[in-house]
Amino acid sequence: MSSTAIVNIATLVTNDPSLGDSSPLGQVRDAAVVIDGDRVAWTGGSSKAPATDNRVDAAGRAVIPGFVDSHSHLVFAGDRTDEFNARMSGRPYSAGGIRTTVAATRAASDAELEANLTRFLTEALRQGTTTVETKSGYGLTLEDEARALRLAARHTDEVTYLGAHIVAPEYADDPAGYVDLVTGKMLDACAPHARWVDVFCEKGAFDGDQARAVLTAGLAKGLHPRIHANQLTHGPGVQLAVELDAASADHCTHLTDADVDALAHSRTVATLLPGAEFSTRAAWPDARRLLDAGVTVALSTDCNPGSSFTSSVPFCVALAVRDMGMTPDEALWSVTAGGAAALRRTDIGRLTPGARADLVLLDAPSHVHLAYRPGVPLVTGVWRRGVRVL
Ligand code: NIG
Ligand code: FE
Repeated sequence: MSSTAIVNIATLVTNDPSLGDSSPLGQVRDAAVVIDGDRVAWTGGSSKAPATDNRVDAAGRAVIPGFVDSHSHLVFAGDRTDEFNARMSGRPYSAGGIRTTVAATRAASDAELEANLTRFLTEALRQGTTTVETKSGYGLTLEDEARALRLAARHTDEVTYLGAHIVAPEYADDPAGYVDLVTGKMLDACAPHARWVDVFCEKGAFDGDQARAVLTAGLAKGLHPRIHANQLTHGPGVQLAVELDAASADHCTHLTDADVDALAHSRTVATLLPGAEFSTRAAWPDARRLLDAGVTVALSTDCNPGSSFTSSVPFCVALAVRDMGMTPDEALWSVTAGGAAALRRTDIGRLTPGARADLVLLDAPSHVHLAYRPGVPLVTGVWRRGVRVL
């Protein structure tokens, strides 16, 4: 096992207030971080860095934890360029477009699906993402959902069963029959490959009772709940998430004061996905309102071919800072420690001794540049599990 010290870091974000400037980001100036094997071994002042096998000179640039993208849909085939084009000339987004991707995904071979998935994961890694959650939901048959999860599980531990994305076309006249399948035989086939269960709780997808049935069936099989909630309209999803102690309620665009209050008094993280509002020309989720109420907020890409075809966490940071009332510090916390909280993980999203050595070197003196210089490829080094991969 070899050790590496990254020295001369202008600003090191640890996400541990006890290690740095006592802000939530726990920033250390003129810092060094030592990696031993796949873990962080030490952080502190650059001049005090212990002797190591290797040394990397950060030359006055910033080091931050690798991004934790806690919400994506990466197992699919085809794209929906035509739908995006139509939206940009005024047509509204409709969840019905999911059916286009379901058809393309069912028709694709395992090799095609895995090649796509690998392409998106590589794209994300180049932009600083070291942990990705991803879901099924474009198969909607027992075989196609199980296949998506099996392929995803080859690449990440954070795999989510989303058989309840929309009602499968074959069950258009029998939604109750589809819920029976999703909570019965399909769940049996999918649960061994997944950690999480998710449902799209929305008009045109699944109502509150159906969503409850899906999540409680998943729980009974050992899957932990998370939920697509309150994205396009107000609905019961957020309250259901809190009631079931879901790790995360995702989207959270249409919230009442009671929803915000429920989140604030729960362990459920509100995961905001501004790529979706960008690409559907919808109103932004109000991050400021959630943060001011004391809600834990994560930010993620929602990367999917319909509503948010971006794998770029830095892009989401820039949107959140520019348009959702987040400060650059809050946005950075939300894509690192916030993403980890949304996955109920404490080993990632922070650079503290014992944490996984997932870190990003920015070609900038601080993380503020992620929003200050939008669209500029600032990620210049990435270590995952202690290995430099970029
Ligand atoms: O999170 N909301 C549901 N699912 C995706 C969109 C899927 C699609 O349009 O293909 C989302 O935005
Ligand atoms: Fe989503």
